[in-house]
Amino acid sequence: MDLKYINFSSGDGIGWIQFNRPEKLNALNPDVLRDLESAVGRCEEDDAVRVVIVKGNEKAFIAGADIGEMAKGDINLAYELTDLALRVQEKLADLPKPTIAAIAGYALGGGCEIALCCDFRIAADNAVFGQPEIALGLIPGGGGTQRLPRLIGLGPATRLLFLGDQIGSAEAEQIGLVDMVVPMEDLEHQVKALASKLLQRPFLALRAAKTAMRKGLNTSLKEGLQIEQDLFCMLFGTEDRKEGLSAFLEKRRPIFQGR
Ligand code: CAA
Repeated sequence: MDLKYINFSSGDGIGWIQFNRPEKLNALNPDVLRDLESAVGRCEEDDAVRVVIVKGNEKAFIAGADIGEMAKGDINLAYELTDLALRVQEKLADLPKPTIAAIAGYALGGGCEIALCCDFRIAADNAVFGQPEIALGLIPGGGGTQRLPRLIGLGPATRLLFLGDQIGSAEAEQIGLVDMVVPMEDLEHQVKALASKLLQRPFLALRAAKTAMRKGLNTSLKEGLQIEQDLFCMLFGTEDRKEGLSAFLEKRRPIFQGR
């Protein structure tokens, strides 16, 4: 895959998506977003990829949308950028495989929004989070006003969105924005450890859990419960369900095949 702003690699069940625009702290522009779309598409199509890890570098996960490019544009550019951002982010959020954001350094604006599209957020102790768009006379345009309050609740989200405050990883963990904070030098190891746990889980059940949560959050409780029931019953037809129940009864560890 010929990508300019993303390094993509895969192996041992993991797809690695690394933002690669270090001179601009991985700021997002249409080219970066299109590269991200291709990399996510590759993860979707490749059955050997079971878990996806999204990362930046030690200084920045992503420092937001490219402010220099936004400064040159008009309302048409705003629509073009946000149409693209929303499409790519939905593709990432909807990936039927677990996704982990490994966040070191700045995760601001569109960067925080990309992290919100992942299932897990593991932060290095130097990570900085925020939705600073208000300081630019804007609001988030990549889902921040919607995904942030859904994840951390209205109160903490209001503070981040109204004041544009930037917070460190300890506070991000306290308000539920990240799942775990680890020393920078441990980030890769911890993220791989989480990926390896996920790789041992039954793939179809993971997919069903993700679908049930994502679809259920966008509908009524009654419909959500129906989605859950349908997926639960569907899983009864899988080999992994037989293996999981037998392994329990035989007092051994299950070995799931993803079937
Ligand atoms: N857009 C474009 N360029 C950016 C950028 C951004 N969001 N963030 C950093 N850069 C560039 C800087 O301009 C600088 O480039 P030059 O060397 O060519 O001047 C380079 O990256 C390094 O950045 P700094 O010198 O500023 O590094 P620093 O360590 O002093 O500060 C920072 C780091 C606090 C993250 C600071 O760069 C900053 O505040 N960046 C902007 C953060 C921001 O407001 N993000 C939200 C953008 S709006 C958005 O994302 C909208 C949306 O939801 C769609």
